[in-house]
Amino acid sequence: MRNFELYVPTKIVFGQGEIRKLSALVPKDRKILMLYGGGSIKKNGIYDQVMEALAGFEVTEFGGIEPNPEYTTLMRALEVIKREKIGFMLAVGGGSVIDGVKFLSSAALYEGYDPWEILAKKIRTHVGLPFGAVLTLPATGSEMNSGAVVNRSETREKLSMGGPGLFPQFSICDPSVVRSLPPRQIANGIVDAFTHVMEQYMTYPADAWLQDRISEGILKTLMEVAPRIMADPSDYAAAANFMWSCTMALNGYIQKGVPTDWSVHMIAHELTAHFGIDHARTLAVILPSAYTHQFEKKKEKLAQYAERVLDIHAGTVEEKARQAIDRTESFFHSLGIDTRLSEYTDQYPGFAQTVADALVSHGMTHLGEHKDITPEVAARIVEMAY
Ligand code: NZQ
Ligand code: ZN
Repeated sequence: MRNFELYVPTKIVFGQGEIRKLSALVPKDRKILMLYGGGSIKKNGIYDQVMEALAGFEVTEFGGIEPNPEYTTLMRALEVIKREKIGFMLAVGGGSVIDGVKFLSSAALYEGYDPWEILAKKIRTHVGLPFGAVLTLPATGSEMNSGAVVNRSETREKLSMGGPGLFPQFSICDPSVVRSLPPRQIANGIVDAFTHVMEQYMTYPADAWLQDRISEGILKTLMEVAPRIMADPSDYAAAANFMWSCTMALNGYIQKGVPTDWSVHMIAHELTAHFGIDHARTLAVILPSAYTHQFEKKKEKLAQYAERVLDIHAGTVEEKARQAIDRTESFFHSLGIDTRLSEYTDQYPGFAQTVADALVSHGMTHLGEHKDITPEVAARIVEMAY
């Protein structure tokens, strides 16, 4: 196991009805900006619960943060923060709203010329404007980590940022929010969290026995929960296990002391930036071909996953590893998620080169746990996913 430091200061308040605890979590002496997405919270009752809990606080609202949060929208929110002298932000939404708020947390205190530099120059944020979250969609883990991804449609860029100053102070995770999620978002959440675990687990054996077991536990739980929550989003036991699995998949714990990959995400972000495909669906397209391409380097862990998660015990390491990739792809299909780029767009011919060029321009020239996924290799992986 590698040496590591773990710092995860976010307080999680988990369970049904816990949104009412907001009043004890939000600072009383600051102006609050409550940020949300396209309006789902006004239809499912979450907005009312939040506003009721914040009665007596000085609250300004900013709605309209899109899925794959848009830089230009966030820059309008930044104006509100400065004009209203906001001292605390509350994100009420899924990964897009929470990520948007993380960008704003950094941008509000940024002293440089153009906040886009935070993303383009990969500037880490050590101190941000404080914020908390009410999670409405289990998927990204953004509620308990310090990373964010921002989209800029005008330049077709989707870039990540982060730093120890960007943890939410608290996140309220009430699994009953899952009830109003459309099947498409539930399927997305399962695949996103599943892939987060895979990016931190599917590398090579590194004597991190506990991290492996926790990762396998999350993968198994997601597979167990998937049919139940897809069939009935008001199944509270399934929703609670789904939500906590998503948080645990990307809150830092399974990443410590082990090599990590993240090439699937970095390549997949280009598919969202260019075609607007949902984040999770881009992962489902890239993951099978990435693992097929990197088969020799990943086969031991693939076989371990086959045995411990998928209960595949017969065959050689190679046979188990191949079956593991096939079964993972079938799992995505079982959720109604296509795994070929050509099933999402007919603009795919030549796109592999576009990805290679984009990775060069973003300085991502050595991806993967061995740093051997060059833009040429990434292009080959994309071609294999056509
Ligand atoms: O905008 P509204 O109207 O609220 O509707 C949203 C949105 O259309 C809807 N929704 C959310 N909660 C709902 C609901 N509908 C009904 N009932 C509810 N309770 O769901 C739609 C999608 O929301 P979004 O926040 O975009 O989804 P998700 O949580 O999957 O976030 C995706 C974004 O997170 C980034 C992705 O790249 C993408 O931009 N990621 C962030 C990560 C992180 N910060 O650690 C890691 C991930 O790998 C990922 O990259
Ligand atoms: Zn993801």
